[in-house]
Amino acid sequence: MPLFLSLLRQIATHPVAWQDSPMGLSFRVLLVAALAVGGVSGRAAEAAHQSKAPARSSWGRIGDGSVEIYTLTNVHGVEARITTYGATLVSLKAPDRAGHFKNIVLGFDTLEPYLGATAYYGATVGRYANRIAKARFTLDGKTYQLAANDGPNSLHGGTRGFDKRIWQAEPLPASEGNGVRLTYVSAAGDEGYPGELTAHAIYRLDDHDNLEIEYGSTTTAPTPVNLANHAYFNLTGDPGVPVLDHVVRINADRFTPVDATLIPTGELRAVAGTPFDFRTAHVVGARIGDPDEQLQRGHGYDHNWVLNKAAAGITLAAVVTDPKSGRSLEVRTTQPGVQFYTGNFMNGKPAAGGGSVFAYRTGLCLETQHFPDSPNQASFPSAILRPGQVYSEKTILAVRVVK
Ligand code: GLA
Repeated sequence: MPLFLSLLRQIATHPVAWQDSPMGLSFRVLLVAALAVGGVSGRAAEAAHQSKAPARSSWGRIGDGSVEIYTLTNVHGVEARITTYGATLVSLKAPDRAGHFKNIVLGFDTLEPYLGATAYYGATVGRYANRIAKARFTLDGKTYQLAANDGPNSLHGGTRGFDKRIWQAEPLPASEGNGVRLTYVSAAGDEGYPGELTAHAIYRLDDHDNLEIEYGSTTTAPTPVNLANHAYFNLTGDPGVPVLDHVVRINADRFTPVDATLIPTGELRAVAGTPFDFRTAHVVGARIGDPDEQLQRGHGYDHNWVLNKAAAGITLAAVVTDPKSGRSLEVRTTQPGVQFYTGNFMNGKPAAGGGSVFAYRTGLCLETQHFPDSPNQASFPSAILRPGQVYSEKTILAVRVVK
């Protein structure tokens, strides 16, 4: 009989259980030993999913540029795929409570549909994620004009933001984890933004089922910067099923209410007593149709929450769970805000590139980021990067299972 089982059997068949006696103590020692041995044999079982070096393959071409896809896997079989087109998270495979793996991020199997898709599926958005009012801002006395691609406003970096660029990529050296480092150099004047910005995105998957997304940037002239991942999560693993039954918790006492064009009014409003109160877990669909002016403006949830930050560094932003499958995702971040978007503009229409686009509210986003329109709102945390400074933000998507 293996040592682990024989230890367990001794524990199970012995008449004395837990108590503060020398006997109880020796049982505790036995139990600890059994668990330790079990841990070792558990790890042996995991060897079936050796964490491998990142796999890199070619994923197509856009004009002269070749696009690649990287696959990261860990010892438990969690798998993340990242393409160099838009530094995009294409898929993230996560287990349900029975151990069945499914992809929990909306995306496509091939490059082509991404070229026509307009909803930033899984992409890294920049140079400025979210909206800039009236597509302009003034910095150090100079006004910069951007493309208005969302009514009067600029959204997600403009007409051709970072999500529509090919990033250069290389696998991380093993000493820095199991991951890929992507780089995009945005020229001075790119989409109207000042300064040449060198942006990095690092995706790293560890053996505790954490997918870490790290963003870094430097610039040659002062510029706004706001980089965010725009993954749509559907923890059922079935992209045809709406996410209204998902349960969400957001670690925020306040949110930034918006005007009719989804630009923050500048107020930091308490969530208490509103459908925006996710301080305790709530079903997404429970209050989404409430007669609330903010919900009407967003056509559902499409707002920035002001994260509670007791200390600097990485803290909890949100937890989303699919109670049926048990799949759960914890989002931790260094960023001050999270845009919770319930896919209100998704409409299931085929994309120009030929791929199908996902149906109404079949994905939800938790875009960790600086507050929308910060370049025009002096009271918001600054999103300006100056030469000599390093922009550095980190978000962890922790894949979990609940009972
Ligand atoms: C963000 C915005 C939404 C919408 C999506 C993309 O989440 O806040 O209003 O534009 O991106 O469709």
